[in-house]
Amino acid sequence: MSWLVKTFTSHTGRKLLAGITGLGLVLFLVMHLIGNLQLFSSSSAFNEYAHSLHSGFLIVLADVGLLIAFPLHIGMVVWLAIDNKKARGAQGYKVANTKQKRNLAAVLASKSTLYGGLVLLFFVAIHVWHFRLQHESIANGTFGGGVGPGDLKSAVIATLSKPHWGALYAIGSLLTGWHLFHGIQAAFRSFGAYHPRYTPIIVKGGGALATIIGLGFTSMPIWVLLR
Ligand code: HEM
Repeated sequence: MSWLVKTFTSHTGRKLLAGITGLGLVLFLVMHLIGNLQLFSSSSAFNEYAHSLHSGFLIVLADVGLLIAFPLHIGMVVWLAIDNKKARGAQGYKVANTKQKRNLAAVLASKSTLYGGLVLLFFVAIHVWHFRLQHESIANGTFGGGVGPGDLKSAVIATLSKPHWGALYAIGSLLTGWHLFHGIQAAFRSFGAYHPRYTPIIVKGGGALATIIGLGFTSMPIWVLLR
């Protein structure tokens, strides 16, 4: 057991864990986006989808998976960032001025992914409170705003049609896309995956997926605003 702890607390092990949990979260977001597209169809389709999700095993899997993956991902990434900062500090100013300048774009991308991710955490906390933690009040009709029992679609529309929440959802969704734009590539780099032929495909494919996820979620507060 101690070899397992040793492996996953080593620098390489932590990078691996951050990458695996990150890609797990991307998978969740792809499923979440596909499910949410039902919002745009008839009024009952989204509620039926949510109802079948909650009556099956999938919601337990998602809840447990997220409760493990989220803290692990954040913990590993922050721990690695602290280590990197310490290592740079020990190397002194000379290296910081030459080596880092050359890699300025990479450093900026990695820093904005880290800080963007921490801001994203704030959005996710509010979002989970809005819909997941108020699942019972939505189910029994005490959510307010004229939302009927079990009418998750009306709860989403009532929330996102408030300008401050609509703006937060649009910004949170765009930030998600931005975070994944660099995050997906970083995950593959952590696995040590480099190949002159396949790396450009991973970079382009990851960028395309991040754009689809970011703009896909952003279309929802915009749709609520325009309807
Ligand atoms: C902007 C459009 C979005 C809408 C309309 C939306 C809607 C919802 C709804 C209705 C739920 C509750 C599902 C249920 O209990 O059946 C939910 C859960 C959740 N959403 Fe979103 N979502 C959006 C974007 C996002 C984004 C961008 C993220 C992450 C960055 C995210 C992360 C989550 C998480 C973590 C849960 C909890 C899932 C669980 O507990 O299993 N959502 N969302």
